[in-house]
Amino acid sequence: MITIKVLRFDPEKDEKPYYKEYEIEKTEQMKVLDALTAINDKYNENISFRSSCRAGQCGSCSLKINGSGALACKSEINDGDIIEPLDLPIIKDLIVNREIYDDKAASMDLELNIPESNRLNLDLKPEELEDTKKVRTCIECYSCLSSCPVVKDFGDEYAGPYFMRYLSKFEFDPRNDNERLNQIIEEGVYDCTSCRKCEEVCPKNIKIYGKAIEKLRSIITNNDLGPLDAHKNINRMVRETNRSVSYPKEGLSFIEEVNKDKDPSKKSKYALFTGCMVDYRLQKVGHALLDVLKANDIDIDVPEGQVCCGSPLIRTGQTDLIQNLVDTNKEVFKDYDTVVTICAGCGATLKNDHPEYGSNLNVQDISEFLVDKLDVSKMKELDKTVTWHDPCHLARGQNIREEPRRILNMIPGLKFNEMDNPAKCCGAGGGVKSAKPEIAMTLAKDRVNEIKETDAEAVISICPFCQRNIQDALDEEGLENIHVINLIELLQEAYAE
Ligand code: FES
Repeated sequence: MITIKVLRFDPEKDEKPYYKEYEIEKTEQMKVLDALTAINDKYNENISFRSSCRAGQCGSCSLKINGSGALACKSEINDGDIIEPLDLPIIKDLIVNREIYDDKAASMDLELNIPESNRLNLDLKPEELEDTKKVRTCIECYSCLSSCPVVKDFGDEYAGPYFMRYLSKFEFDPRNDNERLNQIIEEGVYDCTSCRKCEEVCPKNIKIYGKAIEKLRSIITNNDLGPLDAHKNINRMVRETNRSVSYPKEGLSFIEEVNKDKDPSKKSKYALFTGCMVDYRLQKVGHALLDVLKANDIDIDVPEGQVCCGSPLIRTGQTDLIQNLVDTNKEVFKDYDTVVTICAGCGATLKNDHPEYGSNLNVQDISEFLVDKLDVSKMKELDKTVTWHDPCHLARGQNIREEPRRILNMIPGLKFNEMDNPAKCCGAGGGVKSAKPEIAMTLAKDRVNEIKETDAEAVISICPFCQRNIQDALDEEGLENIHVINLIELLQEAYAE
């Protein structure tokens, strides 16, 4: 027997929507659609919902399962699931009025603009249509729009993933002119935080961020209409220094500090990819890692000559320097078995983007690397209550969710309380923190509301950008007593003598 909650609303009877719980017998691999039918049969309830093909092809059955858009006909039902309509005006129960999006699509004049000069060029090779094909399989379920954290609060400003994908379908077609690029900017292409929630919920596995939004930003740059001013500085910094942030005002960089007294004859099979933030700004996180590794008798090299992974450039559509960065890092790390990253964004970039530029290093996030190597007997008790924030570039970018939790649960005395939605975007990514600070702050405040519910005195994470953004929101909400701490610094505390 399983219990599920369904949001009910009949505008003729109810003042507002309400949740109702139902118990049903779960059959093997029962889908949400089957469960709704079973509820109606068992309770004579007449819950209204849409479906047609029952095969994941028509998109009509989309709704929200535990807050994320999904197809009812393809998603298995589980005990405790909460079923709600998409974030659109409710007609009845799970049926929503999709006119807002249908009308918007109609008003956007969404069709190929083939200039006169291209009209006779119908002789296209299949590979020339490869990019547009990757974003053409949408079944218009709108799950991505109901799951996008930016659309939720900034729907007037950001058209959202569905429309970005729609626009990209034309932009990637070689016959199309580029007359639509200003429209794409106006529809908010720079508002996306690169959280990839849209990709996670898309039933057709369309890489809406990576294959549509990021590429659109790149086309905009190549046509001299972008990037935004706030992003131009990153390009200048990397071009001049190979780093996306400025050299430390005092002291040495982390890599210089670590290598100044190092015996060059001692070589480890592991190498640390520091990323720009740990090398130039958060050296203390790098030193914390070295303390943790030392406590566990693990040697690691921190090779000189390594450069920015290119993440802030790729995310903002500035790809001119990437090949050079990839080639440099490939050469620096070529003799190591494992390259360990300590920043979720760097790890996701090395794993997901660098192979497209010809580099296939064996990369592990620090949580993956450490989880089976930590000596728990050497840890001391930490009398703290903490919660964990999943960085988007770790949870969705690298599919790593369990390892950090396993590490937290190893620390004696530590009380770990989960948030309701620990993997919800904090708003810092995709160049949004620097270019659209109001979006970043609004999303981070949403995180703060969940953090408060956990009674945690510290939020643990493993991404410098999430850490900074969430701390900014905590401070702005007067919660300076709650600190955002890097997982590695928490471990350093657990291993401190
Ligand atoms: S009923 Fe057609 S996609 Fe689910």
